[in-house]
Amino acid sequence: MNKPASTTVKILDEIKNRWSPRAFSDKPVEPEKLKRIFEAARWSASSFNEQPWRFLAGIKGQGETWDKIFYSLSEWNQKWCKTVPILVLLVCKKSFTRNDKINAWAEYDLGQAAAYISIQAMAEGLYTHQMGGFNRDTARETFNIPEDFEPTTMMAIGYYGNADALPEDMQKSEKGERSRKEISTIVFADKWNEMAAFVK
Ligand SMILES: Cc1cc2nc3c(=O)[nH]c(=O)nc-3n(C[C@H](O)[C@H](O)[C@H](O)COP(=O)(O)O)c2cc1C
Repeated sequence: MNKPASTTVKILDEIKNRWSPRAFSDKPVEPEKLKRIFEAARWSASSFNEQPWRFLAGIKGQGETWDKIFYSLSEWNQKWCKTVPILVLLVCKKSFTRNDKINAWAEYDLGQAAAYISIQAMAEGLYTHQMGGFNRDTARETFNIPEDFEPTTMMAIGYYGNADALPEDMQKSEKGERSRKEISTIVFADKWNEMAAFVK
């Protein structure tokens, strides 16, 4: 299902076409595509080039990682993640390796890397859906994640499936319109809350 951003402003196709579906096909994802997706994440910017991101990637039916990630998800997310072929746990390192000080930008940097994953995935014909709904303690324990690392989000990756196969309560948002704040309310110039002239 296509749900492009409703905008007349010319933006990159991958950004325009990205959205977060819940109806994933169980079709496996080609390993070379997965490699390209994580290579894109690798080239994201980060504070002091710390590259605080770490990814635990679970392929359904291969080993135990997928099942362990699935097990950490909230009940609600589990409902739609059953068919997702790739589940990823995104983790960030909380301190700078160079001086052991707290890295206040670790989650910010991880988020950027996640955005790169989403955009590269779109270019590969794949969809992503990020999730905050999971139990961080369970994920930490299951994967023995050290104290200095924070399990931050999870992500589903795969091809689009069939919206009608989703539980009924999820079909509405799946088929519904995407919405965003007006650009004039988020881009300011001169003064706080005063829209920039170029967004008029
Ligand atoms: C950090 C983060 C956490 C999210 N957590 C969940 C989640 O637990 N479950 C879910 O179904 N969607 C989750 N979402 C998806 C958002 O609801 C979705 O990105 C938002 O509604 C915008 O829709 P779009 O991505 O289709 O443009 C999350 C997204 C982000 C970035």
